[in-house]
Amino acid sequence: MRRCLVAGNWKMHMTVAETESFIVRFLPLVGAPNAEVVLFPPFTSLDCAGRLLRETNVGLGAQDVYFESKGAYTGAVSPGMLVACGCRYVLVGHSERRHVFGDGNDVVRRKLDAAVVGGLDPILCVGETIAERRGGQTNTVLETQLEAGLGGLSEAALARVVIAYEPVWAIGTGETATPEQAQEASAWIREWVGRRHGRAAEKVRILYGGSVKLDNARSLLALPDVDGSLVGGASLDPDGFAAIAAAAEA
Ligand code: 13P
Repeated sequence: MRRCLVAGNWKMHMTVAETESFIVRFLPLVGAPNAEVVLFPPFTSLDCAGRLLRETNVGLGAQDVYFESKGAYTGAVSPGMLVACGCRYVLVGHSERRHVFGDGNDVVRRKLDAAVVGGLDPILCVGETIAERRGGQTNTVLETQLEAGLGGLSEAALARVVIAYEPVWAIGTGETATPEQAQEASAWIREWVGRRHGRAAEKVRILYGGSVKLDNARSLLALPDVDGSLVGGASLDPDGFAAIAAAAEA
């Protein structure tokens, strides 16, 4: 049985004060959810969020990590620093990291490995652009990203990994993948895990992300191979995000 995971990626939103107000409002709304609910604030809010979420039903993750543990890497944040703030999860290979900041598949893999070694559970994000989808390249792109991210990973490490299917064309556009498209890609991803890693395929959680809102969350979360959602814009409102978390339980 795969436990549903509802993750809120705040991207570059929320000051420390805004983080505090969000969490104070959100915790009583979300109560004791059946689904696992995790917030991904920006780095500057992690310490505050970690303190407020300690011993609650809501988890904490970071949006990115660097693959070195310490040193002269201006602007970078290590796995150990994230763990010290109370993070359990970290996103790696988010489409904005790949496309805006130029994180290639090799860097994504180094981050994923460093996250696991450093005690974090990585959420590997994969997804195709609209040109790749129109060109019939979706599965090829997913395969390349999955192979680079997870190929040859040990069984123990893979058990810590969550995969997020986020079609680039659906992120921040208001254009959500249809349930058929989300199911087809997620099933394909699970099949890939099965081919490369055998029985781990039954256990690995696959999230859908890309313009998830309250009105489409329920139908996406009901899909057999979708085990949760990675929510961007709609996670910035505590009432709306609590409603999406509640939809995950239905
Ligand atoms: P939106 O929900 O704003 O489309 O963002 C999706 C996303 O990138 C989550 O990581």
